[in-house]
Amino acid sequence: MVDCQARVSRVLFYMAKTSTTAIAHSNIAFIKYWGNIDPQLRLPANGSLSMTLADLETSTTVKFDGNLNADQVVINGEEATGQAYSRVEAHLDLIRGLANLDYKANVNTKSNFPIGTGLASSASGFAALTLAATKASGLNLPSQELSVLARKASGSACRSIFGGFVEWYANQEDQASFAEPIADENHWDLVDVIAIVREKEKEIGSTNGHGAAESSPLQNARVSDSSRRLEQCRRAILERDFFSLYQIIEEDSNLLHSVMLTSRPPIIYWEPVTISIMQNVVHWREEGLEVCYTIDAGPNVHCICSSASASEVEARLGNMTGVRRILTSRVGGPAKII
Ligand code: DP6
Repeated sequence: MVDCQARVSRVLFYMAKTSTTAIAHSNIAFIKYWGNIDPQLRLPANGSLSMTLADLETSTTVKFDGNLNADQVVINGEEATGQAYSRVEAHLDLIRGLANLDYKANVNTKSNFPIGTGLASSASGFAALTLAATKASGLNLPSQELSVLARKASGSACRSIFGGFVEWYANQEDQASFAEPIADENHWDLVDVIAIVREKEKEIGSTNGHGAAESSPLQNARVSDSSRRLEQCRRAILERDFFSLYQIIEEDSNLLHSVMLTSRPPIIYWEPVTISIMQNVVHWREEGLEVCYTIDAGPNVHCICSSASASEVEARLGNMTGVRRILTSRVGGPAKII
């Protein structure tokens, strides 16, 4: 009887509802996540720390509908198929399980930046999906639980639930591996000037890359030194110490790519122009600009700048052959329902 009443009120809830839309921002990792101790749950080998990006965002609308026989997923105007579809479907299954709901969903998602090029579209995408789908299913989860849930869809998505500067804790326990802000978006007006050198989908997605990390003899060294890097990065952010920040950001990015380059088979994300930008950034810094580079699973280069140096860095990158487009972003806020 109680079960039946609960079901009737749930049906009424969905009939009364139209759709729920959430916006989440991408993030750039200063200390990178690479490799899992549990790939199914996405429990990371090491903690990571990122900056949320105000100007790179994904907007996702979800509607559960009792008339649908299967989930319908549209990503940037195109019907999703294959892996992209199954990943969304699996995440919806997880949310349906939590909400005790068996309706299929209509999902429509749009990003304002190129996806699949190492610009963390899965981070903003799955953070937005987690927030929109939990709300649409009638769940009202606290941010920490949203972060745990988003993590299971895409590791870096657990950081995109929050704004500002965000740390994701490594832990062997599912519920203890979540992200949390260490400082909000108004703490330090850093700017990410992103040099896009390739807009095509990357050949090796992050998920496969994580799986290969263990095959590099350098991964253990990278992971076991991660507390030191996290500590230096955390302190540099809290003290707004650009000198200390750039040292640790570049070191961490170089360590990540050393692991990629020495995985079996090797993963080489860089293009020739990627290396030219890295070299130029070091020269520009010697000339007095506050800028450093960091690169995720792709060839594009994130140039992290003080706000005073950002427009000069944009201009210099714009003069480089091979730089196709420049995206600039300030520090962003948390994922939200609109
Ligand atoms: C290099 O979070 O994209 O950007 O969990 O398989 O979706 P999945 O991987 P993802 O990996 C991000 C890797 C990285 C570093 C980082 O963002 O910390």
